[in-house]
Amino acid sequence: MAKLYFLFAILLHGALLLVVHVHGQDQQGFISVDCGASEDHTDNITGIKYTTDDNYIDSGVSKTILREFNTRFLDKKYSNVRSFPEETRNCYTLRPTAGKNHSYLIRASFMYGNYDDKSQFPEFDLYLGVNKWNTVKLMDASNITTFEIIHVPQSDYIHVCLVNTGSGVPFISVLELRQLNNNSYITQTGSLELFARSDCGLSPNEIVRYQDDTLDRIWSPLNFEAWDVINTSSSVVPNNFLPPPTVMSTAITPNNVDNTGVGISWRSEGNVSKDFYLYLHFAEIVEFDELQDNQTREVNIFINNELWYGPFSPNYLRAITIYSITPATGSYFEIWINRTTNSTLLPILNAIEIYTVKQLPNPQTDQNDVDAIMNIKSFYGLKLKNWQGDPCAPDTYVWNGLNCSYDGFSPPRIVSLNLSSSGLTAKIAPYISNLTMIQTLDLSNNNLTGTVPDYLSQLPFLKTLNLQGNNLSGTLPVGLYEKSKNQSILLSVEENPNLCLTDPCQEKKQKKKNNDDFVVPVVASVGGFMGLLLAALAIYWGLKRKKQAAGGTTATKVNAEFSDKKDEELEMVKKQQFTYSEILSVTNNFDRAVGKGGFGTVYYGHLNENEVAIKMLSHSSAQGFKEFHAEAKLLTRVHHRNLTTLVGYCMEGPNMGLIYEYMSNGDLAWHLSDRNPHTLNWEERLKVAIDAAQGLEYLHNGCKPPMIHRDVKSTNILLNEKLQAKLADFGLSRAFPAEGDSHAFTAVVGTPGYLDPEYYVSNRLTEKSDVFSFGVVLLEIITGRQAIGKNSDQNGHVVEWVNSILSKGDIQNVADPRLQQEYDKNSVWKLLELAMACTSINLTKRPTMSQVVTEIKQCLAMEMDKSFNNDVSEIIELPEIILNTEQEGPKSR
Ligand SMILES: *[C@@H]1O[C@H](CO)[C@@H](O)[C@H](O)[C@H]1NC(C)=O
Ligand SMILES: *[C@@H]1O[C@H](CO)[C@@H](O)[C@H](O)[C@H]1NC(C)=O
Ligand SMILES: *[C@@H]1O[C@H](CO)[C@@H](O)[C@H](O)[C@H]1NC(C)=O
Ligand SMILES: *[C@@H]1O[C@H](CO)[C@@H](O)[C@H](O)[C@H]1NC(C)=O
Ligand SMILES: *[C@@H]1O[C@H](CO)[C@@H](O)[C@H](O)[C@H]1NC(C)=O
Ligand SMILES: *[C@@H]1O[C@H](CO)[C@@H](O)[C@H](O)[C@H]1NC(C)=O
Ligand SMILES: *[C@@H]1O[C@H](CO)[C@@H](O)[C@H](O)[C@H]1NC(C)=O
Ligand SMILES: *[C@@H]1O[C@H](CO)[C@@H](O)[C@H](O)[C@H]1NC(C)=O
Ligand SMILES: *[C@@H]1O[C@H](CO)[C@@H](O)[C@H](O)[C@H]1NC(C)=O
Repeated sequence: MAKLYFLFAILLHGALLLVVHVHGQDQQGFISVDCGASEDHTDNITGIKYTTDDNYIDSGVSKTILREFNTRFLDKKYSNVRSFPEETRNCYTLRPTAGKNHSYLIRASFMYGNYDDKSQFPEFDLYLGVNKWNTVKLMDASNITTFEIIHVPQSDYIHVCLVNTGSGVPFISVLELRQLNNNSYITQTGSLELFARSDCGLSPNEIVRYQDDTLDRIWSPLNFEAWDVINTSSSVVPNNFLPPPTVMSTAITPNNVDNTGVGISWRSEGNVSKDFYLYLHFAEIVEFDELQDNQTREVNIFINNELWYGPFSPNYLRAITIYSITPATGSYFEIWINRTTNSTLLPILNAIEIYTVKQLPNPQTDQNDVDAIMNIKSFYGLKLKNWQGDPCAPDTYVWNGLNCSYDGFSPPRIVSLNLSSSGLTAKIAPYISNLTMIQTLDLSNNNLTGTVPDYLSQLPFLKTLNLQGNNLSGTLPVGLYEKSKNQSILLSVEENPNLCLTDPCQEKKQKKKNNDDFVVPVVASVGGFMGLLLAALAIYWGLKRKKQAAGGTTATKVNAEFSDKKDEELEMVKKQQFTYSEILSVTNNFDRAVGKGGFGTVYYGHLNENEVAIKMLSHSSAQGFKEFHAEAKLLTRVHHRNLTTLVGYCMEGPNMGLIYEYMSNGDLAWHLSDRNPHTLNWEERLKVAIDAAQGLEYLHNGCKPPMIHRDVKSTNILLNEKLQAKLADFGLSRAFPAEGDSHAFTAVVGTPGYLDPEYYVSNRLTEKSDVFSFGVVLLEIITGRQAIGKNSDQNGHVVEWVNSILSKGDIQNVADPRLQQEYDKNSVWKLLELAMACTSINLTKRPTMSQVVTEIKQCLAMEMDKSFNNDVSEIIELPEIILNTEQEGPKSR
């Protein structure tokens, strides 16, 4: 008896008739772009004002579809397209007036119309900002394909980009943006991609949009033989979803009294499990006969045979929307709206919307960097072809002349800008001062005029500045001159005939004649790359030795610069060096010990308002002293967000101490142990693993020569108050042999349980030894067990334990029971595989730390997007329901 009706993704196309009831509304919050059009026009059915795309994009060519497709039934907005034969990525920039943090509906439409006379249907990618939105795949020249998404942007602009994937030239017909009501269509994460939006009972071949729908959503009909349509001429009062009165004034109801319900079902494309949000709009539109007030309409709503909401009765002529705050996950859905046994009337449904969740995980470039580079672009009127969309992201489409740093989940930053030979005129753009992470700036061989601005010396990370071959004048700012002199900036300013290096100008001009190729030597700045730092030290010591050997005869200009610099460097080093009495005061006479490690006891202290941890070294040989000095000096200059910062050190007789930033949340071992009442969840564990892996990766690849940690273990991974993890004690094993060892560099260092077995055999330490130790840490993270179990139910090495479990095929029991199975299984197995590869006996089977970082990030992505890899299943978690009882909406007339 019961019949089920299927509703599949509804493609909107021109064959549908639009019925319009004109109410005379403005188009506030609308952006309507007729891509490729030569003039603005107003759609004479909807009254929507379409503009040309002049203000939204710089690239592409305007084309007209072939006559045969340009029929008089076709809306004018489809007769032109903008096509993108050049550049891989081309982006429209929409700037809605309300700006960021509002909800917008964005709709992109494509009609091929054989505009290029090739009769080949292109396929290309559509991006929303830095994330892929969908693939546009056209199958027919006259079909209109539409993509629609509800999105809350984090910036005041929205980029819609078309990306050539090698299967035809991308183009676009129409781009529309509509501002939605704040408190409707809210997701927990991600944006809402339209799956279906239907006005139940609308006549076939009709659609509803603006001006009936003030938000210009497009509603298509939903009706089947087994349903009757009921309607009213009265107007339904909208709620905050603003369902159009015309949409709400019709409803469907079973046409056979034996049918107790209205059923709708759908299957996701490709039968993949997805997150869905449903919005069911109801309003009672039948006026009950006053003489028969025993009439009731009461319904229950079931999703896949489970009660989702009910019983409830729709209100007379007032919209009510039933939706959930969490999505329903699955690939197949069956909704039933059934009458309750008490209900004298059959159920109704006025309208339904179905959306899938689109995760947009990639972060866009830091907003200050974007503003700065956009200002630079317009300041110089640059028309660089691929300078479209986000400057740094995704990394495959980074703008020419830019280099960016990508740091996991945080926004990319611009670290270098090369605009040499770009025909720049006018002065050096002030906006450059806002590129605060920039390390390399090349403005050479342009026609820049004016003075060299002082802010260039304020950029904290600037290491290379090339201004040669311009028309700059005036005097070089003192700060910049000093920085180049003390080698923290490599400055090139030749071929600027009117530029003086220092005041007074006269003297410098003289000097310049003596050195036509004025290049101030490079040296890394504090906080910069380890590689440069080491190179610089090498040069420094190399030069010093050379100088001594040759009795000072090698004094060239470069050498002179270096000798000038020496005192300053020593000055700087002194500031990082503390006296023992200072240490006593910082630690309040060592009144609080916070830990004990291989190298000594760690004390808590305060240094200028900052919390610090002071590690007092128990070892004190003369050899250690020498190593200590060199190493400590070096380590104060290693900076990475996942390495604990060495603030300074103390070196006074036998008293040697290291002052670190304080990590308030203890070490990873404690967090994983039973002693911790609130164990880390799987996502937190993965984030800690990524942080620690990044720190180690930096030691291996960011430092030249590479630094091997030698003592990677869970007690050396420290957490701060935000649970950000940092690797501690790097560089120490080299400087400080374990107590009792006399051979500093040949002694076996490390901690039992984490030591690479290969190291015992070959006594040769490589990065792969750290990888092994890190693999042990990963196993601890997965299993919650210690590297070497110390009690009866946890004995043996964790690697052996995991192996024995796996050999029994008992993989379910590998994961830490304290996680209570709250994780994406695939994410756990993937990390387990990685950990096993890291702890492989065979060195060549162990991945590099870069690979480790990438793999763990994938594990995190799986965990974050659980539906990604879940088995396709028909089981649905019932989403939490919200009854949208807000009755009073904005007036629609
Ligand atoms: C729309 O306007 C154009 C010219 O402005 C006119 O030729 C056309 O007939 C109009 N179409 C309709 C359906 O009114
Ligand atoms: C964005 O809007 C939400 C809700 O309207 C508000 O809670 C949040 O603070 C806003 N965020 C920003 C950055 O304005
Ligand atoms: C759209 O294309 C599909 C597949 O080629 C075709 O079946 C359908 O009839 C087309 N629709 C319209 C409105 O042309
Ligand atoms: C929408 O949100 C913005 C920012 O959160 C706020 O300023 C504005 O007043 C809200 N509008 C309405 C109608 O609630
Ligand atoms: C809802 O009604 C339909 C059609 O009468 C029936 O097949 C289905 O079992 C009902 N569902 C529930 C949960 O009662
Ligand atoms: C409702 O009440 C009226 C009058 O009392 C009665 O005639 C009618 O049969 C009732 N209808 C139903 C569905 O019970
Ligand atoms: C049905 O109506 C009876 C009598 O009014 C009432 O006692 C009962 O609770 C109702 N059942 C439901 C499910 O509302
Ligand atoms: C730099 O950025 C700040 C804050 O974002 C802004 O107030 C300032 O005007 C900017 N400076 C320049 C020169 O663009
Ligand atoms: C550079 O600017 C000067 C003065 O504005 C002008 O005379 C000269 O032709 C320009 N040179 C180039 C290469 O544009």
